[in-house]
Amino acid sequence: MQLTVNGRAVERQVEGRTLLVDFLRKDLGLTGTHVGCDTTQCGACTVNLDGVAVKSCTVLAAQASGGAVTTIEGLASDDGLHPLQQSFNRCHALQCGFCTPGMIMAADGLLRSGCAVTDASIERALEGNLCRCTGYVHIVEAVKQAAHALGVPTEAAA
Ligand code: FES
Ligand code: FES
Repeated sequence: MQLTVNGRAVERQVEGRTLLVDFLRKDLGLTGTHVGCDTTQCGACTVNLDGVAVKSCTVLAAQASGGAVTTIEGLASDDGLHPLQQSFNRCHALQCGFCTPGMIMAADGLLRSGCAVTDASIERALEGNLCRCTGYVHIVEAVKQAAHALGVPTEAAA
């Protein structure tokens, strides 16, 4: 299979049953994408596939062939941390950090979707992501601050 991961062309042979999350973590060493449940419930494994947030424990690696994947490792740029990474830090939107890569990638999906960012749209975007230690108030605030920094509308309904 051939795909682009964090802007880099990748070519590998994988077994048909290989999950995208295992491919990213084991074949490519991109361990920022976490496995919390392996059953599509926690969202810790969320990555961006062709512009859309997906749970990579629910996607076969082969299904991503020909596509473009961005993981948490690919979100920052040469200019520094992504606004979501900065706002999660600034808003204290994490404690242990286990859920954070998936939260940020799910939030990134919302910010890329063209939807206006409201409390309701953030809650919808993150409803498949579980945090066991920090709670959600600061996470929602972090997403709103990142939206503001990126110029994404934050008030009107989509
Ligand atoms: S590990 Fe994929 S949703 Fe939990
Ligand atoms: S910060 Fe620990 S699980 Fe969310």
